[in-house]
Amino acid sequence: MLVTIKNDYNEMSAEAARFIAERIRKKPTLVLGLATGNSPVGLYKELVRLHQNENLDFSRVRTFNLDEYIGLPAEHSQSYHHFMHENLFKHLNMNPRHIHIPDGMAKNIEEHCEWYERQIEKAGGIDVQVLGIGANAHLAFNEPGSSLGSRTRIKTLTRQTIKDNSRFFKTPEEVPQYAITMGIGTIMEARELLLLASGKKKAKAVKSAVQGPITAMCPASILQMHRKAYVLIDRPAAALLSDTQTFG
Ligand code: GLP
Repeated sequence: MLVTIKNDYNEMSAEAARFIAERIRKKPTLVLGLATGNSPVGLYKELVRLHQNENLDFSRVRTFNLDEYIGLPAEHSQSYHHFMHENLFKHLNMNPRHIHIPDGMAKNIEEHCEWYERQIEKAGGIDVQVLGIGANAHLAFNEPGSSLGSRTRIKTLTRQTIKDNSRFFKTPEEVPQYAITMGIGTIMEARELLLLASGKKKAKAVKSAVQGPITAMCPASILQMHRKAYVLIDRPAAALLSDTQTFG
């Protein structure tokens, strides 16, 4: 696990974009795993800038998103489909057939999850998976207690996550209670992981993920078992880490 601490959100985002851009330039058919939430928004902005100003080419890049709410159509303003389109895809030269996001309206969720796993496999696996971290150290929608070997499946959101995400909805009752999410086992198969965390609200989760015991009660702690896990965070998110001078 390589932990890099940047001064603030903007520096973290610029570094994350450099990391991804370098890999796209090396492998134009990169299979990129993507996340939603505030953490990667700055990274996406910077990737758009690199595409527009420095010809970073996305025409052959393939993407797989981590998760999606169940019951929200793609057009819904709070769906992850909508989020990805607005923050990233509509600004890039991606082939729409290369974009994969779980379908929260799928009739048969179980079959859809299996299909999603097969698509990842067919693409040759994920090269780099971008991750955020929940305040309770969840990864994607793998809440504490999720099996560390889990695959793409339906999950019930915890009260904490519903509360955290209710800021995007008019009332907490509108926040969907279920989601489709890649499993922790699915995420761990990506060849590289890039976890982003910013702000003091994430400091506890970062501390337990990076320096706590590996446990299903802290899903992000499994990153300690990955050969190429990069944890890219800002100073406030790193506030509780000890021995930070040993980190990159
Ligand atoms: C949601 C997403 C996660 C994300 C988390 C943190 O629950 N399903 O993938 O990492 O929120 O979001 P933020 O980056 O906005 O703090």
